[in-house]
Amino acid sequence: MSRFWSQSVQALEPYVPGEQPLIKNLIKLNTNEHPLAPSPKVIEAIQKGLDGSLRLYPDPESTQLTQAIANYYDVSPKSVFVGNGSDEVLAHVFYALLKQSKPLYYPEITYGFYPTYCRYFDIEAQRIPLDDQLRIRPEDYFPTAECEAGAILIANPNAPTGHALSLAEIESILKANAQIPVVIDEAYVDFGAQSAVQLLDKYPNLMVVHTLSKSRSLAGLRVGFAMGAPELIEGLERAKNSFNSYPLDRLAQLGATAAIGDAAYFEAACQTVIETRENLVKSLTELGFVVLPSKANFVFARHPNHDGGDLAAWLREQGILVRHFDTPKIRQYLRITVGTPEQCRSLTEMLAKRIQA
Ligand SMILES: Cc1ncc(COP(=O)(O)O)c(C=O)c1O
Repeated sequence: MSRFWSQSVQALEPYVPGEQPLIKNLIKLNTNEHPLAPSPKVIEAIQKGLDGSLRLYPDPESTQLTQAIANYYDVSPKSVFVGNGSDEVLAHVFYALLKQSKPLYYPEITYGFYPTYCRYFDIEAQRIPLDDQLRIRPEDYFPTAECEAGAILIANPNAPTGHALSLAEIESILKANAQIPVVIDEAYVDFGAQSAVQLLDKYPNLMVVHTLSKSRSLAGLRVGFAMGAPELIEGLERAKNSFNSYPLDRLAQLGATAAIGDAAYFEAACQTVIETRENLVKSLTELGFVVLPSKANFVFARHPNHDGGDLAAWLREQGILVRHFDTPKIRQYLRITVGTPEQCRSLTEMLAKRIQA
């Protein structure tokens, strides 16, 4: 604490991201990055953009990227908002849509940035418990005589569990809450879950948030986007243009546009991760792990005879990073990003040494 900090900053609880080590040769399965490189078309587009035009500000509206997203998802460009990673998009969503007079509902165990943003924007949150399998129960989000949400935010698939709700379950939440904003964070949806994008025409209160960090292998470029009715998007634009009107630099706009344009590469790369995930689940299960069914590019697993924190620390010593959350109900779990088949093999071989010792 510093006496020079504002009261607001003293009250913050910043999000702590997974470790980004400077040491080389670690097997990095801790922050859900894609194991494959981005499409070669992304690199080509960025290289082409490396010229004197960098002296100019970028297009504040990211027009080409917005159009590419609109084309891919078959929505109007007026229904698309882009930002510097979905964390930034979410910041605007919190400020523009989720700060209401009634509390924001989100799952008790979910993406760690949500509580951080609630503090930052002074939003009252109601954390909704999961069931005993760590699954979201849609009916818990239906309004009752005693309890009503001001807005709802759900990560689907949820993080760090990997569980996904079906489209029908998401729609049941939307139907029951037609009068309030419902935001679905689909950071991991491309790895096998159903996207709510197809419900956008039917529900003007729905906003879907995506990122290029996971399924399009571009965590380093920082690009995310939201899709929703133009009325909701306009709210985000107002927030953005009151904060930073140039969130995406020239190179990010070029690279992201090329990534969205290369659908074939994207779809094949997602399929590779899905197949590797199924093999990883099988190997972990054979080692005695309890693995939650995952529709994401990570798995959430615990071993009945080994402490999660100890296993994560031991793996770190062996040069393998996984994510461990020292928080109630999930302390025994490891969140393991699906890496390349070789990385996953190294992980399971290492775990076998420890477990069978
Ligand atoms: C559920 C969820 N949403 C959003 C993000 C943010 O992604 P980015 O800011 O890289 O787009 C993450 C990152 O881990 C996430 O897990």
